Amino acid sequence: MQFAKRLDPLQFNVFADMDRAKAQARAAGQNVIDLSLGSSDLPAAAHITEAIAHSLSDTSTHGYLLFNGTRDFREAAAIWYEQKFGIAVNPETEVLPLIGSQEGTAHMPLAVLNPGDFALLLDPGYPSHAGGVHLAGGQIYPMPLLAENAFLPIFEDIPTAVLAQSKMMVLSYPHNPTTAIAPVAFFEKAVAFCREHGLVLVHDFPYVDLVFDDRNSLIEAESGNEEEYRKLMAPSIFQADRDKSVAIEFFTLSKSYSMGGFRVGYAIGNSELIAALRQVKAAVDFNQYRGILNGAISALTGPQDTVRTSVETFRKRRDAFVNALQGIGWQVPVPPATMYVWAKLPEPWAQDSVKFCTQLVQSTGVAASPGAGFGKSGEGYVRFALVESPAILEAAVRKIAEFLN
Ligand SMILES: Cc1ncc(COP(=O)(O)O)c(C=O)c1O
Repeated sequence: MQFAKRLDPLQFNVFADMDRAKAQARAAGQNVIDLSLGSSDLPAAAHITEAIAHSLSDTSTHGYLLFNGTRDFREAAAIWYEQKFGIAVNPETEVLPLIGSQEGTAHMPLAVLNPGDFALLLDPGYPSHAGGVHLAGGQIYPMPLLAENAFLPIFEDIPTAVLAQSKMMVLSYPHNPTTAIAPVAFFEKAVAFCREHGLVLVHDFPYVDLVFDDRNSLIEAESGNEEEYRKLMAPSIFQADRDKSVAIEFFTLSKSYSMGGFRVGYAIGNSELIAALRQVKAAVDFNQYRGILNGAISALTGPQDTVRTSVETFRKRRDAFVNALQGIGWQVPVPPATMYVWAKLPEPWAQDSVKFCTQLVQSTGVAASPGAGFGKSGEGYVRFALVESPAILEAAVRKIAEFLN
C-alpha cells in the first residue's frame, strides 16, 4: 500500500524502540521499573470520579455534544484561570475545550501553517508539537535549549531567512523534559518578538501547578499577598500578553488532577486563534464526553487540596531520587518543576542516550526516556519520570549504580 508522504517524518520515534526494549526485558524475566512515561500513577480525586459516575446514569449525557453544550465547562475554565492569574477571560470567545493538550497542540498548526511555512519549536521538546507541524506540511526550525542558557531559546540566533517564512512559535514552561521554568521577563521578550515578526505564540502549559521551589512560601503567600503569590508561580503567557494579542495557551487536567486517561484539556487565548482551532476541531471531533467534562468541572471548581498533595508527593519523590543519584556520584540538578529528572549522561554514554536506555532496561529492568527522543539537543541526556514511590525510585538508583559500574 502507498501512504501519504506526511507520515514519513512521523516514523522516527525512539519511544517505539523503547517500548520494544521494555517488552523484551519483560519477556526475559526482568521486573521492569518503568520511569519512561510521564503518566501519573496517582488516582483522580473521589469528587471527580463521582461526578463522572453520576453522569453515566444520566442518559442526557450520551449524545453528541456541540460547542454550546460545553458552556459550563468553558465558564469553569475561565474562572479557574482568572482566580489563578488575575486576568479576565471570556468563556464564549476565549476558551475552547480539548481532548487533552496533546490533541490541541497537534491540531493548532493546521489552523496556522500553510505547507512549507516554518514553526519555531523548542529542542528538546514535546513530540506532539513537532508531529502537528509535520501533519500540517510545515517545516520545523528547532531552537536549541542549552543548560548554559537556562534551557531558554535565543531568538537572535534564528536565521533571518527562516524567520521570514515562520508563522508560529511554540513554547512550553515549566518545560518537559528539561524541567526549566521561564521567568515572565522571558515571556515578555517572546511576545514582543512574535508581535514584531507576525508569529502566533503557542504556549503549552501542562505543568502549571507542578512547581516545587519555594512551595512552602508559595502556600504561605497564597493566603496573604496576591502579588507575592503570583511572583512565585510558573507564569502564564498572558502575564506578558495581557490583551491576548498573539498568544494561545494550552491546559490539561492530566497532571494537576491526575486525569490523563480521561483525555480532557482546554485552550485559552486570542479569540481569532480560538475560532480558527475550533474550525479545525469541528472537522474532526464532537468534543469530549459530557460526563468527563462534568468530572473536569468538578476538578476545576472543587477543593484544590488534592493538587497540593500531588505536588508534595512528586516533591518527595524528586528529593528521594535526586539524593540517591547524587549518592552514587551522578550529579544531577534538582528540578524546580514538572514530574521529571533531566540528567546529563556520564561517559561512555554521553552521545548515545538511546543505547544507554536500551541497555539499561535490558540489563536492569529500569526504563527511562532517551534525551534524543525529544530532539537533537536532547542527545546526551536521559529523562526519568517520577511515577513510582520513593522506595522504588531508590531501588531503581541501586540498579542504575550496578549498571554504571
Ligand atoms: C508538554 C506536554 N504537552 C502535552 C502533554 C499531554 O497532555 P494531555 O494529556 O493533556 O494530552 C504532555 C504530557 O506529558 C506534556 O508534557
